[in-house]
Amino acid sequence: MEYFTTTSNPAKRAADCVVVGIYQRGKLSAAAADIDAASKGELTRLYKSGDLSAAHGAARVLTNVSGVKAPRVVVVGLGKVSNFGTLQLRRAFAAALNSIASTKCRHVLNGLALESDAGDAYYMGRATAEVAGDVLYRFTQMKSGKKPPVMPLKKVGIAISKRGDAKRAMLGATHGDAIDKGVSLAKDLGNLPPNVCTPSYLARTAQKLAKNNGKLTTRILNETEMKRLGMGSLLSVTAGAAEPAKFIVMQYKGAGKAAPMVLVGKGVTFDTGGISLKPGPAMDEMKYDMCGAAGVIGTMATVAAMKMPINVNVIVPAVVNMPGSRATVPGDIVKSMSGQTIEILNTDAEGRLILCDALTYAKRYKPAAIIDVATLTGACVIALGKHHAGIMSHSDKLAEQMLEAGVAADDRGWRLPLGEDYAQQLKSNFADFANVGGRDAGAITAGCFLAKFTDGMNWAHLDIAGVAWHSGAKKGATGRPVPMLSQVLLAHCKQLPR
Ligand code: BES
Ligand code: MN
Ligand code: ZN
Repeated sequence: MEYFTTTSNPAKRAADCVVVGIYQRGKLSAAAADIDAASKGELTRLYKSGDLSAAHGAARVLTNVSGVKAPRVVVVGLGKVSNFGTLQLRRAFAAALNSIASTKCRHVLNGLALESDAGDAYYMGRATAEVAGDVLYRFTQMKSGKKPPVMPLKKVGIAISKRGDAKRAMLGATHGDAIDKGVSLAKDLGNLPPNVCTPSYLARTAQKLAKNNGKLTTRILNETEMKRLGMGSLLSVTAGAAEPAKFIVMQYKGAGKAAPMVLVGKGVTFDTGGISLKPGPAMDEMKYDMCGAAGVIGTMATVAAMKMPINVNVIVPAVVNMPGSRATVPGDIVKSMSGQTIEILNTDAEGRLILCDALTYAKRYKPAAIIDVATLTGACVIALGKHHAGIMSHSDKLAEQMLEAGVAADDRGWRLPLGEDYAQQLKSNFADFANVGGRDAGAITAGCFLAKFTDGMNWAHLDIAGVAWHSGAKKGATGRPVPMLSQVLLAHCKQLPR
């Protein structure tokens, strides 16, 4: 996608479509006022006659408005002036693009970018690119026959009020476009069926990213190598599966000898629950149990696209959790790479069993910070729903950085506590501790389990079980938390405009 900025009157731009807005009570957005003036009051007339809605997200396509060069004007409702902020801006622009998604528009001007109460020029450029990428995304590779048409958008303009904003807006668009690359890759990996997106497929995807990139290397460890490293916990999860497990290590070197940021992603390409088998309804959604992996691999794609001056390592333990005659059974005790022993009381609490060995492995990198990302618990979805990801950390500073990044990137998290009281729930009569801690505070006890493997590291855990995909009619991967993680990394390497 090509992005550009413009200070010229939206009524005079030669685009296929101009997007403008209308607030409650008929207050026109800045670009809408220009269109209204050029058309001698057309928008005002339409609003007064009830033909335009100011309800947030209501989009109406007007064609051949007199005095306006572009053949289409989309007027989108912006709701209450006092309510208008970043989220409303994104949703309104998304609604506008959706309303023209089946047209032949190649060139769209985002006039909403002039609504500066919702964000600065950098933010507008970035939101424009991220929303355009999100709306245009389609997952059709598994459909045979004719694919439904999507508009052939090639050029997107960002309206700015003064020339001096151009640089910031373009930086925002460049960042937004790179984040969209990572988000789209994460969506693809999440949406692919489990018979295609296997641990080996994830490994090949990681290898492909490293191809032709001098800063990026990928190494894949097989089960024999994992055994040699003593990853008894990880291997217990793959015991029932015919599909081989892979341990994926990606290293991006953009900052010499600086300590790396390390991202660890849960890569369970299908979670049946194992011998503690899950119930049937909606079990297909457990193909998304690799969205932690998709999120960190996607973030690596963004890092590479931006050529960030930073060192980043991505680690993905990838397995299938299956029942079978060789599968781990409840009561089994395994030895993790850290030396600690684990009583597996529920084979469906498998994410933590693969992540713990990955966290131990990561210690060798002496990370500046390490964040593990996982669709770890249904309990997190109960606690926070599908809006906030769960953040757990013993480091107030790292938790704060992630919370802040989530707000700035519109990919929010919410902190949950950790602590000895909760960790007590993992007590085992037979091993060092158990892999489950009962029904109470299930998201937190999972975090406490991981904390036992992160001594001495600046670590945080991100539970994305709620935010990684939509259920229901919009079923599909969201690409989260690529925006939040990219923001954390951008802040770390000081690539954000002050
Ligand atoms: N992958 C699931 C968590 C999950 C459940 C994510 C629903 C998204 C939606 C995880 O492996 C799991 O099964 N967790 C168990 C843990 C329990 C056995 C302690 C859960 O949440 O029920
Ligand atoms: Mn499970
Ligand atoms: Zn799982």
